[in-house]
Amino acid sequence: MIDQTQPSLEANDGTRHDAERGAFIVLEGIEGVGKTTQMAVAQRALEQAGKALVCTREPGGTAAGEALRSVLLDKDGAPLSLEAETLLMFAARANHLHEKIRPALNRGDWVLCDRFTDASYAYQGAGRQLGVARIAVLEKWVQAELRPDLVIVLDADPELALTRAKNRGPVDRFEQESLDFFHRARQVYLDRAKDHPERYAVIDASMSLEDVTAAVEATVSGFARQWGVS
Ligand code: TMP
Repeated sequence: MIDQTQPSLEANDGTRHDAERGAFIVLEGIEGVGKTTQMAVAQRALEQAGKALVCTREPGGTAAGEALRSVLLDKDGAPLSLEAETLLMFAARANHLHEKIRPALNRGDWVLCDRFTDASYAYQGAGRQLGVARIAVLEKWVQAELRPDLVIVLDADPELALTRAKNRGPVDRFEQESLDFFHRARQVYLDRAKDHPERYAVIDASMSLEDVTAAVEATVSGFARQWGVS
């Protein structure tokens, strides 16, 4: 029989839930909000806070995950049904959690991830209109109780953001989506942030690069202080 009086280090999501677990931070936003630049800013701010840090991305982050990323993003690749696309996102995520994210958090390292399940809510759930309820089922199955401790949403009007994204060069399968798709995706990011203000920070990505950078640095440093790291 399980001794219920003893606190367990392993919760049912396979991740330690004691004070030694590392923090899980995610950066999100629609195309063209400057996520790549701000990943580097967040990484620098966290490294300055003195924590061992694992930087990773989704879809991807493992050998199998990166192979799935190529299938998912290749706009000239074989067509994928919406269900297949969604399940492949979560297949990559399951592998990522197993191989990289949970082991890092359990070691006490911090994890900074370029996108995570909020992107599935935004892109597949809302953008492609699968519905957020279907994403919630997969989230529960693949992650159990594990959720990011901080999600930074870089937010901008899709018209502005997409113009920036298109100026970057060749587009992938998602970047070629319609303006309506990105309006729906943006709204889900904002709704989720509103529903869980304790875990989300929305930053106006239409500000100058200097101001967005300062806001990301302040958010990350404030979070690190809250976790007892200066
Ligand atoms: P990015 O890493 O350059 O942002 O590209 C990843 C693309 O994959 C981006 O267009 C968002 C999309 N995506 C989803 O549609 N669902 C997901 O769950 C994730 C993680 C990404």
